[in-house]
Amino acid sequence: MTASRDAEPASGTARAAQVRRLFSEIAPRYDLLNHVLSLNIDRRWRRRAVSELGWERDPAGSYLDVCAGTFDLALEVTAQPGFPGRVVAADFAFPMLARGMPKIEAAPVQAVCGDAQQLPFASNSFAGATVGFGVRNLSEPLAGFREVHRVLQPGARFVVLEFTVPPGRLMRWAYLLYFNHILPRVGRLVSGHPWAYTYLPKSVEGFPGPDALAGMLRRAGFASARWFLLTGGIAAIHVATKAARD
Ligand SMILES: C[S@@+](CC[C@H](N)C(=O)[O-])C[C@H]1O[C@@H](n2cnc3c(N)ncnc32)[C@H](O)[C@@H]1O
Repeated sequence: MTASRDAEPASGTARAAQVRRLFSEIAPRYDLLNHVLSLNIDRRWRRRAVSELGWERDPAGSYLDVCAGTFDLALEVTAQPGFPGRVVAADFAFPMLARGMPKIEAAPVQAVCGDAQQLPFASNSFAGATVGFGVRNLSEPLAGFREVHRVLQPGARFVVLEFTVPPGRLMRWAYLLYFNHILPRVGRLVSGHPWAYTYLPKSVEGFPGPDALAGMLRRAGFASARWFLLTGGIAAIHVATKAARD
């Protein structure tokens, strides 16, 4: 049994290493579990997120997807009718990228193995950026937001799709029941990983709510950050914009 299978994520650098290892270990089952455990709603959420990117302002531009995993969000961008640009998709868990590679063979998606908190890209180089279910996994989300802000061109948007805890009592009760009791069991059964799908609900519950996350995006340098909830508050989309001129 490996070290990452023995314990749940800690903090700081140790957490980053464990998160990388966790996703490396569940990569072979990630896509299947993603769609099954979300009852396929994740596809709709990704489409909604991409509709906020505003790629039409610079259709031929380069777009960035951080914490790209197996490329589902990057591919949602390139699947937009009339999108002639390209997407650079970065993730620090190589097995996740490797697993998704067959999906991007015919798509203008370039995979890069890199850390969202130290992006290997020049400043002001992307026309927009996305992240799906990734920021919750960062050891320092603020550092990740600052990096995305740095590599975006003035006026560009950053769209963040992330789980959140529903505000309504009934929905929250059903959600916590599903997240804390059903999801970990199914996840453990299918992935064979003893705690990856226990980590998921814990990471959501311990993560800042939508208002706090919007504040963090502003602290990272974004001129504005708005948000809205999806599916009764199970997930949220934040749309942050870099100032037209820095
Ligand atoms: C839940 S998956 C999401 C994958 C994909 N965006 C999606 O929508 O399915 C989270 C991904 O974030 C990646 N990740 C976590 N921390 C990271 C970091 N510091 N730098 C780059 N990738 C990171 C993990 O390796 C994993 O592939």
